[in-house]
Amino acid sequence: MRRHVALALLLVALVAGCDEEEPLPPRPPPQAALPPPSAATTDTFADSGQCAQCHLADAGPVLRDPAGHDISPVGTWRASMMSLAARDPFYLAVVSEERQEGDAKQVDSTCLRCHAPAGHVETSGALTFEELLTGKSPAAVLGRDGVTCALCHQIKSDRLGTETSFTGGFVIGPDRAIYGPHNSVVTEPMQFFVNFTPTFASHMGRSEVCATCHTVIVKGVVEQATYLEWRSSSLSPGKPCQWCHVPQVDEAQNALSEPISKFPAGLAARTPYGRHEFMGGNAYLLRLVAENEAWVQSGIPAADLQRAIGAAEAHLRSAAKLTAVGVERKGGGAAFRIIVENQTGHKLPTGYPSRRMWLHVVVRANGKVVFESGALDRAGRLAGDDDGRVRKHLDVVSSQDRVQVWGATLVDADDRPTHRALAARRVGRDDRILPAGFAPTGMDVTRTATIGVFSDPDFQPGSDGVGFTLGSVPVDAEVEVTLLYQTLTRDLIEKIDRGRTPLTTQFVDMARASPPEPVTMAELRFTIP
Ligand code: HEC
Ligand code: HEC
Ligand code: HEC
Ligand code: HEC
Ligand code: HEC
Repeated sequence: MRRHVALALLLVALVAGCDEEEPLPPRPPPQAALPPPSAATTDTFADSGQCAQCHLADAGPVLRDPAGHDISPVGTWRASMMSLAARDPFYLAVVSEERQEGDAKQVDSTCLRCHAPAGHVETSGALTFEELLTGKSPAAVLGRDGVTCALCHQIKSDRLGTETSFTGGFVIGPDRAIYGPHNSVVTEPMQFFVNFTPTFASHMGRSEVCATCHTVIVKGVVEQATYLEWRSSSLSPGKPCQWCHVPQVDEAQNALSEPISKFPAGLAARTPYGRHEFMGGNAYLLRLVAENEAWVQSGIPAADLQRAIGAAEAHLRSAAKLTAVGVERKGGGAAFRIIVENQTGHKLPTGYPSRRMWLHVVVRANGKVVFESGALDRAGRLAGDDDGRVRKHLDVVSSQDRVQVWGATLVDADDRPTHRALAARRVGRDDRILPAGFAPTGMDVTRTATIGVFSDPDFQPGSDGVGFTLGSVPVDAEVEVTLLYQTLTRDLIEKIDRGRTPLTTQFVDMARASPPEPVTMAELRFTIP
């Protein structure tokens, strides 16, 4: 008998021992504030502040839409995540974790390539993370300028669309040609002020320019395939990324026609004219930047960031459409199916795998909630959230403690979810909603594959549906459906805290003070008669 108890205790100790992680070192103090923007000119680049002399709206009407909004390239781009790519506290925290776990040099050459591309190119790939965070060299200043004007506008047509162009494989010229969509431009002002020559090049309007960074394949694992998703959809080739992300219309959807530079005065208007919104869904990080300007030192006017937060939320509301089908009574209960239609040019959600989307469904009768699925609890978690396991795809939700969450999860060598690209071995799950007409060919078949969706007949190109079955529902019950989007989970914030670097402390403190609330993408109300 005693031997049994001892054995049981030993077993308990062993099991506990397996699960228990090493005690964590104390939290280091947070990272010091980033340096503010400054000027840098090199043989290849100039910082965005120099372009602002002519391509940023001032008090006058030039580079403004009829409603008076700043539609200048600098005014719109600077309050986007593209400009913030190297000051983004979430990104910086994850890089610091990767460096702690792996070879710092390899991490730097991988992770700075797209987020600090001008600094990366300037140093032929040798820019270090320390230099990016604190350095005064031109490469560090250009690196902190994110996906800066002179980087994107110097991408050559070489390689575009081919395998070698992906994962940061853009080619930057030595000839100081700034490519743009217009023919016969006035070249002297730019040559004189910044020693670049504005040059017509049709490739700037193609998705293949964006593909260089929006196809992220790290050590053979496809972390992001936004471009590959797009080229497998019916939007390709006619409706490129620019069609939605550099819109040629104003906020009232009227076509824009505007001079593209405020200097020299009196330039003729050019059509089409694109707004450099680069709006995705990341209202949350824009908010963290706005709330922590003292640390981020973006130099972006607060009003511009507020406008961008609103625009990102509005953009999310354009991404999906909800409909209810098959609403019926079944004895004392009811059933219905909610169809989510993807209105974007790629999977929904796309991009960085921390994004997720789900339906919050509330059924009320006589003012009382009789069914609810998809609510966050007080700790900000959803039913079924489990750090250690990959979530399962659902076609039908029949109890309140279940919820279908669309997203992608990378897994490590032990098949456990990981947010670290360099620890990932494969994609463990991907049930994001496919774009319209999705029909991948060749290598894209595996690189954009849906993973973990079984026996779900309405998981189709362009949409997915979720059935709800309710055990008992009073007559005239009101159903309220909300499609929600979240940039990252609170669990991920806590996981990052275990990284124990000055940058993880910094990011986690910011994120705990202002957690990632879900953003409404679409709403639908109906009655079960
Ligand atoms: C090939 C280009 C490329 C490389 C290389 C790259 N990234 Fe990114 N990264 C992106 C793009 C594009 C996004 C934005 C996707 C989106 O918004 O959904 C992004 C987003 C992120 C985000 C989310 C940021 C946010 O604000 O939500 C983190 C974190 C991140 N990257 C970390 C890393 C780390 C760590 C590395 C190195 C292992 C790395 N990235 C390498 C292109 C790249
Ligand atoms: C001194 C003013 C000035 C500065 C500084 C300046 N530009 Fe320009 N830019 C112009 C003018 C003028 C044009 C041509 C306008 C026209 O012909 O309609 C132009 C045109 C362009 C075009 C369109 C080219 C085409 O063929 O479609 C791009 C892109 C561009 N500039 C980018 C930049 C970038 C990037 C910087 C910073 C590195 C910059 N500019 C700095 C004045 C300037
Ligand atoms: C990620 C790439 C990217 C970045 C970064 C970028 N641009 Fe552009 N830019 C474009 C694209 C794409 C177009 C439109 C091309 C088209 O529609 O054919 C464009 C067009 C332009 C034009 C011509 C105006 C028009 O809409 O016709 C100017 C001027 C310009 N950009 C300047 C800038 C300046 C200044 C910055 C930095 C604040 C900047 N760009 C940042 C991609 C970029
Ligand atoms: C038909 C319009 C449309 C086209 C075309 C399009 N997008 Fe988007 N994109 C959207 C909308 C709407 C969202 C917001 C929903 C979301 O975040 O998934 C979005 C989101 C994004 C995001 C942020 C994803 C996230 O949640 O973090 C990235 C990155 C992106 N798009 C890149 C691209 C690239 C690169 C292309 C071209 C290969 C492209 N888009 C083509 C409409 C479009
Ligand atoms: C040099 C690399 C690079 C190129 C080229 C590039 N991007 Fe990006 N893009 C990034 C990175 C890095 C991020 C993520 C920054 C972050 O969140 O930290 C990003 C983010 C985005 C987002 C997400 C913004 C949000 O708020 O969620 C959109 C949309 C986007 N890019 C569109 C485009 C389009 C359209 C093009 C082509 C005209 C393009 N990008 C070209 C690197 C690039």
